[in-house]
Amino acid sequence: MTELQGSDDGDRHIAAVAAELEWLSTVIEARVRDFAASYPFGTLPPPPAVDPLSRIGEVIAGANLEEDGRVMLALALAPHLQPSLLDPFFVRNTVLDRPFTEFGGQIRAHGSAFLPTGETALFLIGGTDLAARTRAARLLDPQHMLRQMGIVSLDAPREGGPPIGGVLNVPREQVAYLATGQMSKPDYASDFPARRLTTDLSWDDLVLPPDVIDQIEHISGWLQHEHRILHDWGLKRSLAPGYRALFYGPPGTGKTLTAALLGQRAGLDVYRIDLSMVVSKYIGETEKNLAGVFDQAAHKNWILFFDEADALFGARSSGTSSNDRYANQEVAYLLQRIETCPSLVILATNLRGNIDDAFSRRFQSLVGFTKPDAAQRLRLWQGVVAGGLPVAGDVDLPTLAKNHELVGGAIVNVVRHASISALRRGRDDVSQADLIGGISSEMRKEGRTP
Ligand SMILES: Nc1ncnc2c1ncn2[C@@H]1O[C@H](COP(=O)(O)OP(=O)(O)OP(=O)(O)O)[C@@H](O)[C@H]1O
Ligand SMILES: [Mg+2]
Repeated sequence: MTELQGSDDGDRHIAAVAAELEWLSTVIEARVRDFAASYPFGTLPPPPAVDPLSRIGEVIAGANLEEDGRVMLALALAPHLQPSLLDPFFVRNTVLDRPFTEFGGQIRAHGSAFLPTGETALFLIGGTDLAARTRAARLLDPQHMLRQMGIVSLDAPREGGPPIGGVLNVPREQVAYLATGQMSKPDYASDFPARRLTTDLSWDDLVLPPDVIDQIEHISGWLQHEHRILHDWGLKRSLAPGYRALFYGPPGTGKTLTAALLGQRAGLDVYRIDLSMVVSKYIGETEKNLAGVFDQAAHKNWILFFDEADALFGARSSGTSSNDRYANQEVAYLLQRIETCPSLVILATNLRGNIDDAFSRRFQSLVGFTKPDAAQRLRLWQGVVAGGLPVAGDVDLPTLAKNHELVGGAIVNVVRHASISALRRGRDDVSQADLIGGISSEMRKEGRTP
């Protein structure tokens, strides 16, 4: 597919979006002009022919959009791509010296951009005609295809106003998709409290005792058969949505790796939530960002991975200071979202002791990761070396595995250390001494002696 996407082809997406926006601009001018002159609203100016191979063309066809739907989509896109296009809405009502209520919209807190609301869409499509507005209002319905497809969203209105007072929006990655044809994964944004988790390792690289593997296969089985179980076998009525798993065990035993592999195998994206970003003093903001993560997880069937989830259990009931109370509010919110999340949610912790029974009951799987025994350590060593590490003839992995109690994460570190040592000495392979040196360094880090 990438083969076929030359730059010409990439341009068609933005060209089609630009045509829609240009048309929106004529719609806005016509409406504002007629409104100011108290003319009755005519029909919408004719829309451009749409390129069916462009992304926005696919959406227009897929959601069966007529002119009114196209106005709404272009309007929701405008603040992202061409905010000045909405400037005509800044015209003030000179009689009352305030913006026209009829235009709806909100002014962005910092800066001066106009953010369209549902009200703005109704004004453009239906004007002040009640019947036309009522017909247009179905576009804002949560059941409408544009909402269902996750392309247009309608924020909650301010201070309990009517729903049409909510800001119309297009999620950032959908904007990028429509404009460039490429799906960007939100693994970059600094205000997005989640990062995508991936691995280059494969299922066969995972070294765990058979009973743990079996538990993980079970979770994988859920991902594979969820639809059948819920729908064909009718358990949707009885089961709480989603699936929750707790991974506990010492550092470096493969919890994060396993989460990444579950996603890789099921073809689902895994997002790791940074709890340090979540439990902060900017309570409202975090909650909003987090709500976004859960919404997207539900919509796109992401796997959510909460690392260092101890923060959740610890803060749960203790604490009387106002900071703790805030933390508790955050935690209560999080737990509630975790419990109702329709996708797989994995919580990871190093401590099992802290988790009370009431909490454990909320999980469908509790998976204990243990430190590997000698045989497993040998497989871990072999796995790391198998990637192409050149090893000298004196390297004796069985002995290393037998004599040194290292977890998988430590073995990876040792091999890195040994590789640097070898190259620093001008060698082009790693010797047993390099590996022993790496082990000493790793043990010192952990405060142990080799
Ligand atoms: N059981 C394992 N099988 C294969 N590789 C492993 C295993 N455990 C650890 N590793 C290797 O060590 C690396 C680090 O492990 P990982 O980050 O998954 O540990 P963790 O249990 O999440 O640790 P922490 O509790 O510190 O987050 C992995 O990317 C992998 O290369
Ligand atoms: Mg981890």
